[in-house]
Amino acid sequence: MLTLEAIENVLSAQIKEQALPKEIKNPKELLQKWSYFSNQVPRLLGAVLSRVKNPDIHCLYAKTIYGECGSGKKTKVHGRLFTKLTNNSPDLDFIVQSVDPELEQIFEEALAHVSQMSQDESIGFIVGLEAPAYDILDILKKALVLVGVTEKVVTGSEYMLIHEQVEKEHQESGHEAMEIAIKNGSDLNQINQGGKYAVIFWEKWWN
Ligand SMILES: [Fe+2]
Repeated sequence: MLTLEAIENVLSAQIKEQALPKEIKNPKELLQKWSYFSNQVPRLLGAVLSRVKNPDIHCLYAKTIYGECGSGKKTKVHGRLFTKLTNNSPDLDFIVQSVDPELEQIFEEALAHVSQMSQDESIGFIVGLEAPAYDILDILKKALVLVGVTEKVVTGSEYMLIHEQVEKEHQESGHEAMEIAIKNGSDLNQINQGGKYAVIFWEKWWN
């Protein structure tokens, strides 16, 4: 039976299995991708918000976007905190470069697609977007060490400390948004459809 929990569990497992990098072949490139993604992700979250009509869900998503954008402090924007962390690597210049145009295109296509989604699809998409958060943090930690940032710097960094905490909140907001939507007559199948698109997005992004 399709339930919210089943949707979340299947998405997490699928993303982990088929979309995330299994081994870190090129840590510099992986971190460059993440640097780009973390700077652009507020746009994707904004696109999701734009599809939703329910004010209670706006409130949940706005909180997530506000956090991503440093809770109003420009120096605390998550993309910037990530750059600060990679500052400790001799590969910094490479990591902060823009990604290649093909990858940029993948992001822009996802943005355009999300902007056309139904409300329920977009609610599912954000759940899939947040689902691998902790797996990605683990991958990033490994990649950072491989480019010469010490483990102590990585684990003690503002970026990691904030994310260990807020990813849980983001995932809970995503879940709560689904609950609100379902109570208001949303379609689980469409939510699931949006989640599946997140799997496709992650797959394209990492491979
Ligand atoms: Fe973040």
